[in-house]
Amino acid sequence: MIHIKNKVSLQKMEQAGRLLSSIFDAMEPRIVPGSTTQDIELWIASELIRLGLKSKSLGYMGYRHVSCISVNDEVVHGIPSEKKILYKGDLVKVDVCASWQDYCADMARSFFVGTADVRAQKLVDVAQSALDKGIAKAVAGNRLSDISAAIQQEVEVHGFGVVRDFAGHGIGKSMHEDPEILNYGKPGRGPILRPGMAFALEPMITMGNYAVYVTEDGWTVKTIDKSLAAHVEDTVVITDGEPQVITRFRV
Ligand code: MF3
Ligand code: CO
Repeated sequence: MIHIKNKVSLQKMEQAGRLLSSIFDAMEPRIVPGSTTQDIELWIASELIRLGLKSKSLGYMGYRHVSCISVNDEVVHGIPSEKKILYKGDLVKVDVCASWQDYCADMARSFFVGTADVRAQKLVDVAQSALDKGIAKAVAGNRLSDISAAIQQEVEVHGFGVVRDFAGHGIGKSMHEDPEILNYGKPGRGPILRPGMAFALEPMITMGNYAVYVTEDGWTVKTIDKSLAAHVEDTVVITDGEPQVITRFRV
């Protein structure tokens, strides 16, 4: 069942999104050569506390961190580690889900350590534009798979791969709610979108083949062909009008 959120719930989610996006707005200077993914995790943890946000990943199915940080051919769910040192040119995906007064926002961005390779930059740009195309379909009256199809179309027209094994999701009091939002598929299928639904949209895309596997740590998802992957995520509310992206707040 897809929850329709009331006004008060949505206001809390907006506040979660506003605060979470302020962390991401300050993140780029932290993604530097020589720092570790654990350094970034610790900074995020302190920011969450400072802003009154509660991590939704800490304790989730035994996960022990407030962020997922995935580098290069790691797609999502990378575990922060003091052994994981960042080098110039690395493509770093940071994913954080947090709640404010029990209501969640979920967000991810792809960053480069220093300068980006041209083709890698293109991959990130397409992940971002695919997310934007998906968001543009998050409109009352559309069907769920209109979002999925728009994302897939944008990725594949640029010759990149769409990861099939992971998807976006409904979000509210829980990090993961119904429905599952695939990043591929035919348009015109699935439930009709209604005001008050909230979705975390998160294309995961690859430079090569889209096939992925989970490594022996039980979490980290990597491309089988070792190609680079990009991931971006925003939390979006269906309204009577334009989609409301609650993780893109800027003053
Ligand atoms: N924030 C992730 C998502 O986009 C989930 C993180 S998995 C966890 O759904 F185990 F770290 F929580
Ligand atoms: Co998510």
